[in-house]
This record gives sequence, C-alpha cells and structure tokens, in this order.
Amino acid sequence: MREKKPLLSIEDLVIKFQLKDQIVEVIKGLSLNLYKGESLAIVGESGAGKSVLVKSLIGVLDKNGWIDAGKILYKGMDIAKFKSEDEWLKIRGKEIAMVFQEPMTALNPLRTIGSQVEEAIVLHQGLRGREARKEAIRILEDVGIKDADKLYKRYPHEFSGGMRQRVVIAIALACKPQILICDEPTTALDVTIQAQILKLLNRLQEEYNLTILYISHDLGVVAKVAHRVAVMYKGKIIEVGNVKDIFYRPKDPYTISLLSKLP
Ligand SMILES: Nc1ncnc2c1ncn2[C@@H]1O[C@H](COP(=O)(O)OP(=O)(O)O)[C@@H](O)[C@H]1O
Ligand SMILES: [Mg+2]
Repeated sequence: MREKKPLLSIEDLVIKFQLKDQIVEVIKGLSLNLYKGESLAIVGESGAGKSVLVKSLIGVLDKNGWIDAGKILYKGMDIAKFKSEDEWLKIRGKEIAMVFQEPMTALNPLRTIGSQVEEAIVLHQGLRGREARKEAIRILEDVGIKDADKLYKRYPHEFSGGMRQRVVIAIALACKPQILICDEPTTALDVTIQAQILKLLNRLQEEYNLTILYISHDLGVVAKVAHRVAVMYKGKIIEVGNVKDIFYRPKDPYTISLLSKLP
C-alpha cells in the first residue's frame, strides 16, 4: 500500500510566535513523512504543538506566528514558502482539508447545514443547482445523516455534537481533498459517539481514497484507527512506528510513559 515517496514531507520545521516581549519556538525542528493512503496519528500531550503544526500545513497559523525554517513538501512545492492567501487557497480544502475538534468553529451558525455542504460542492466540484444539491444530500447520507433531504434546511444548533461533526466531515469531503487532517476530531464528543465517528472516518478513508493525519492526545483512541503513530513531545517527533511497534516495543521513555497512562 505504501509508496516509497511520501505524499507530504515535513523537514526540520521550525515555527515561532511573537509574544509581547519575547519570541517562543513551538515547533523545534520537526520532521515527518506522510504516505499516500495511510492513516498516521500524531500523539502527544496537550501543549506539545500538534495544532500549531497542522495549522501550518494549511496556512492558518495565528497572526503572531511564522515558519522560521524548514520545508513542507507537497506535490513538488514547498508550501512552507507560501506567502499569499491566493497560494494557500489552492491547497486549503482542495488538497488538504481539516476537521477540527469543535465542529461549531467550522460551521456557520447562521446558515443551514445543507447550504454549507452545497457551497463546498459548487466551489470545488463545479456542480450547480439541482445537481449540487443532489450531491450534497448524497455526501450527507454517506457520512451517516439519514433523511438528509429532510434535514437539509436545519441549522447547526439543531444538531447534536456528533451530527455536527458529521456535517463538518461532509464539507471536507465535498472539497475532494487528498489529505484529511483530523485534529482531535472526537475529543469534544462522548465515548459512544466518538467510536461511531472513528468508524465512519475509517470507512470514508477507503471509499474516498484518503490519506488521513489524525491528531490526538489519546494513544488509546488513535490505536483503533491509525496504521502508524508518531509521538510528539515539546515540538518534535521523538518516535514513529507502526501501531503495534509503538504499543508493544516502544523505544523512547516518553512513549513508555504515555503508554503507562492508558487504562
Ligand atoms: N498564537 C500563539 N501565540 C503564542 N503561543 C502560541 C500560539 N498558539 C499556540 N501557542 C503555544 O504553542 C504551544 C502548542 O500549542 P498547540 O499546538 O495548541 O498544542 P496541542 O495542540 O499539542 O495541545 C502551546 O504552548 C501554546 O501556548
Ligand atoms: Mg491541539
């Protein structure tokens, strides 16, 4: 399944933030390869820099942050060098889509869920009118929203957290991305819903031929969905391996301590 050449390659990445009177280095020379068709999980405790890292992959770092050194290679481009929003718009959503922890941040509370999925389809697939709507309904049903035609005109607040996350996933899929990044996609959800969403993502990966990058603080959760695990600690990847190796033959002391915290 895995090709030798990575789809996305992060090389010695350094990301810094300007605070009032000092500069902090959050990503400290991080390297990581993501291969086509795999699902790779980055695991590390809160504050390790996981969200900062993935935000840098779609050009949405907070305004006081910047890529200070290193490369992010994707399809022959070094996207770490991108400066303008125009350049990022060619990547964001279309090539690399993101599902965040809190679905409400990704959804417009003032617009119906159907129109939000439809907009992504119009924008990224070039369908119009009835065709676009038909496709929106198909994707919504595909992510497990039954009777999507009847729920089309509902607003995000009328949905549960799990249902909202399904809508966010539908919007991401509507853009036909190569890579789907899921940053703590189930952390805000309760355990049974969590399991359903992970199962859904697993199925969609096959169906849409996706490469998935999971972000989680919970090694137990990602073990269920990822092929490989990268352990992140204080802005660096300290160990990468197959799920089984990380679980049964961890090498780094930090990985061992993460494992010891699992129930
Ligand atoms: N805009 C910012 N300005 C300054 N520091 C930031 C900013 N965004 C994130 N950080 C810092 O970067 C570190 C990593 O944050 P984050 O990537 O959100 O961690 P994680 O997702 O692994 O929990 C934290 O110490 C956080 O305070
Ligand atoms: Mg985070």
